[in-house]
Amino acid sequence: MIKVSDYIENLKPYVPGMSIDEIKRKFSLERIYKLASNENSLGPSPKAVEAMKNTLAQLHRYPDISAIRLREKISLIDSLSPENIAIGNGSEGILAVLLRAFLVPGDEVISSEKTFIGFQVLARGREQKFIEIPMYPGEFRFNLKAISNAVNDKTKIIYICNPNNPTGTIVNGDELEEFLQSVPREVMIIIDEAYYEYARGRGNYESAVKFLSEFDNVVILRTFSKIYGIAGIRIGYSISSPEIAETIMKVKLPFEPGILAQEGAIASLDDEDFVNRSVRMNSEGYEYVTSIYGELKLNYIPSYANFVMIRMNSEGEVNKLTEYLLRNGVIIRPLKPFGLPDCLRITIGTPEENSFMGNNLQGFLSEVYP
Ligand SMILES: Cc1ncc(COP(=O)(O)O)c(C=O)c1O
Repeated sequence: MIKVSDYIENLKPYVPGMSIDEIKRKFSLERIYKLASNENSLGPSPKAVEAMKNTLAQLHRYPDISAIRLREKISLIDSLSPENIAIGNGSEGILAVLLRAFLVPGDEVISSEKTFIGFQVLARGREQKFIEIPMYPGEFRFNLKAISNAVNDKTKIIYICNPNNPTGTIVNGDELEEFLQSVPREVMIIIDEAYYEYARGRGNYESAVKFLSEFDNVVILRTFSKIYGIAGIRIGYSISSPEIAETIMKVKLPFEPGILAQEGAIASLDDEDFVNRSVRMNSEGYEYVTSIYGELKLNYIPSYANFVMIRMNSEGEVNKLTEYLLRNGVIIRPLKPFGLPDCLRITIGTPEENSFMGNNLQGFLSEVYP
């Protein structure tokens, strides 16, 4: 047998929630409400679908390796230049490229506990030491001070998720700035803004883009999988110094992402109306679901994203609720794999999905606590 390295042998794979088809089959259900993966329940932008359809006749051609049309368009969002932008097979694809390109033996990686599991899986799938720092006690927020204190001369990459998946919490601009000042410039700081479009303009949330000119060790990740609704086609982007962007473009597989993904992403960026509708649906949905959680006396964590984390009384209760909802056709995300066994995460969906989920939550609680 061909031997793999120990850290690969011991790697626990990313386990996504059950698929719609699996649930339908298992519980003989017709209709499923999937509120487990923070996708956009409005579907893809109609303009993206149209653009992808129009591209089908070109599928015999390889994609443009430089993806220059898309990178130009993305660069306009934050008034940057295309040289600051790299694209990849989802933002997770870019994360994988960053770890591959920049980590050398002896380097160390730091992040927080209770953050995006995709990063944890990628970091543990490497030989390098991966350190997870606890959050602020009771706050479910990144403790940037503790992360900064943990930096040593082996630290090479730090991962911050803002807003954080699965807690929905943020670090604000002042905290970020203080943190960036405190970390040596030789350390790459990845700031994952997968939910940026939902948090933009809310409270004291700020994108890290404003720090880019001063801190060339910052790499921001964004995605077309969330608000833009094209998770299935796999495309994301990074914003960084031209040097880091060039490395990402050089190290990624040359023809990723494919033509459909690139054209879908370009058209999505043109569909402002779709993005505005999605933000509106989310903020109205957030008001609605949190009012239900309040009425049901559930302990939810205020969220800046398109999902809400709820803390139940125990892991057993999370399992029972997950099973109850599944039997009724609602898929949510229990958070044991994220290190939060007594918590679950529910995506904010369409009004119909939210109300169906709310009724089922109520049904569960009245069954368990009659
Ligand atoms: C914080 C965060 N980053 C990245 C991703 C993955 O994004 P992509 O589909 O672009 O790989 C997710 C998806 O759940 C996420 O929550």
